[in-house]
Amino acid sequence: MEKYIRIAATHDIPKNNMRVFTVEGYEILVVNIEGEFYAFENRCPHMGYPLYLGSLEGKVLTCGFHYAKFDVSTGRPLGPVTREPLKTFKIKIRNSSILVRALSKR
Ligand code: FES
Repeated sequence: MEKYIRIAATHDIPKNNMRVFTVEGYEILVVNIEGEFYAFENRCPHMGYPLYLGSLEGKVLTCGFHYAKFDVSTGRPLGPVTREPLKTFKIKIRNSSILVRALSKR
């Protein structure tokens, strides 16, 4: 059975915002798009820049370093900068808590 860890309350991340949490040594970027939550490794797949320093517009997350764009709803890259998708973590919402699937160290 998969183990999930609580990382925040849903109200900790306002709509159309993102925040970083550290879970088991990983920095996880949690994004709230109109009440839907998504979780990614806080590391751009292009060259590893922290994604939380980028910007969010609608469902498009833009890295602040070379401006790679990603579709938050799928994690897929948009445009020419990288073909690598965001590393996505499974997420659940339970009783206004955001849970992410427990991770193992690489
Ligand atoms: S590190 Fe994100 S676009 Fe290059």
